[in-house]
Amino acid sequence: MYINKIKLENFRNYEKEEIEFDKNVNIIYGDNAQGKTNILESIFVCSLGKSFRTNKEKELINKEKEYAKVEMTSFKKDRNIKINFEIKEKKKFSINGIPSKKISDILGKNYIVLFTPEDISILKNEPSKRRRFLNIMISQLRPIYVHLLNQYNKIIEQRNIYLKQIKYEGKPIENLEIWDEQIVEIGTKIYKYRKEFIEKINKKIFDIHLKTTGNKEKIRVKYISNIRKQLFRKFEKK
Ligand SMILES: Nc1ncnc2c1ncn2[C@@H]1O[C@H](COP(=O)(O)OP(=O)(O)OP(=O)(O)O)[C@@H](O)[C@H]1O
Ligand SMILES: [Mg+2]
Repeated sequence: MYINKIKLENFRNYEKEEIEFDKNVNIIYGDNAQGKTNILESIFVCSLGKSFRTNKEKELINKEKEYAKVEMTSFKKDRNIKINFEIKEKKKFSINGIPSKKISDILGKNYIVLFTPEDISILKNEPSKRRRFLNIMISQLRPIYVHLLNQYNKIIEQRNIYLKQIKYEGKPIENLEIWDEQIVEIGTKIYKYRKEFIEKINKKIFDIHLKTTGNKEKIRVKYISNIRKQLFRKFEKK
């Protein structure tokens, strides 16, 4: 898969721009604040439906304009894919000219991996950074994964509301089980996808690291989740 072209209109600092890419390596260079990362951001938006830099999507629109558009054409397997992204009041997508209702439709159409200097936090910082990285990768390969994540977050939210109701409205604590069971059920599925992904990349990472260290260092990535602990706690309660 490779990206052929992006067309930007009022996206960040670009008013109208067309960029064609080579199917091999492309190097984008320029002074600071010239818009290099903005180009990557436009590709990210067309591949994952949202930015990696902001949740406030209006920021993507050029400050002097009312709307922004990105069109990205890519080639995957044996076909062209055209993704159109537009943001005005709301954001809209279309795939090969057909408006898409859900963002999850565009996931997996193009496979991208973003690695920026800040991404060193995947290794250095708290687990949520690693989970975020995994989530971005897996949702492209397995679009159903996004539904699981959304479901999971919804249940956590509802459970938190119920926790407050227990405290302030005296609702029975036993009912928490309803959410706990779902958390374990969906959490286990999420866990499996993550484990599968880690196993997949393990071999590649191992080989690359061995090569880059001149056969000196062996590296392994391991997914340590607390889902087992959660399951165990559940088991103990019963
Ligand atoms: N909504 C916007 N409207 C107009 N300009 C914007 C908007 N958002 C960002 N910019 C401009 O985009 C530029 C930053 O672009 P970008 O972050 O892509 O730079 P860069 O080339 O990656 O720089 P660096 O080398 O520092 O990483 C800044 O000049 C900023 O003012
Ligand atoms: Mg930059």
